[in-house]
Amino acid sequence: MTSARSSLEVHGTGSPVVFLHGYPLDRRLWQNQIEPLCDSYQVVLVDLPGFGKATPVQPSDMPSMAAFADDLATALDQQDVNEPFTLVGLSMGGYIAFEFWQRHAARLKALVLCHTKATADNSLAIQTRQQSADTALSQGTEAAVAAMLDKVVSEHSVMQDPNLREWLKSVMFDVPPETIATAQLAMAKRIDFTDRLESIEVPALVVAGTDDEIATTETMQRMARAMPNAKFEAIDDVAHLSPIEQPKRFNELLLSFLGSI
Ligand code: MLT
Repeated sequence: MTSARSSLEVHGTGSPVVFLHGYPLDRRLWQNQIEPLCDSYQVVLVDLPGFGKATPVQPSDMPSMAAFADDLATALDQQDVNEPFTLVGLSMGGYIAFEFWQRHAARLKALVLCHTKATADNSLAIQTRQQSADTALSQGTEAAVAAMLDKVVSEHSVMQDPNLREWLKSVMFDVPPETIATAQLAMAKRIDFTDRLESIEVPALVVAGTDDEIATTETMQRMARAMPNAKFEAIDDVAHLSPIEQPKRFNELLLSFLGSI
């Protein structure tokens, strides 16, 4: 078997809950979920290929969200996570979760989709991603991702935790430029899952933030309505990163959902 490029950090025992971070972050996005869950669940934090402690990548290594999903399946096999699990994906992690459902449905017990969308990119968004990949490779990560900093967390969250932006900066700027390019080009090619939502029958929790401009509350609510077994929740005063912006509320919703399935 080829070695997985994703890297996993595992805490606790019990029914597995696997966490996929967004772009351009890493498993540290989920640092506030470990302790509340690990007494009752096996918490599996993933560094997707090229991010955090995972194996470095070039765009040709991971050409699609499907490639990320298949790599995750291999990483979980290698970690002996064999029983059906709950997959939690935030934004890009959600795009990968849709592909995982498409390709490895039998392994899923439930889905938690945070700040993500089922739609593919339009031509402008594809062009922007291509530019961002080029910028990362020619000028470095900081030049490619700095503009995101203002969008991913709400003013309210920054007031609550004045160190939040600095912390995010350190995580984002840590991502190698080749990984930025790889993720952007793979996201640009992602397929549209809108017409397949009605076939996603596993229990699902869909979590939005009222201040999220990237995956809006309206888009996410529409997505949840199209899924036969989905529950929708919007967290007030949160932008794109509820697990780190309002961990207490996020954990309440997650634990309540996990307890109900
Ligand atoms: C993310 O948080 O993963 C990104 O906003 C996803 C995207 O660029 O579409």
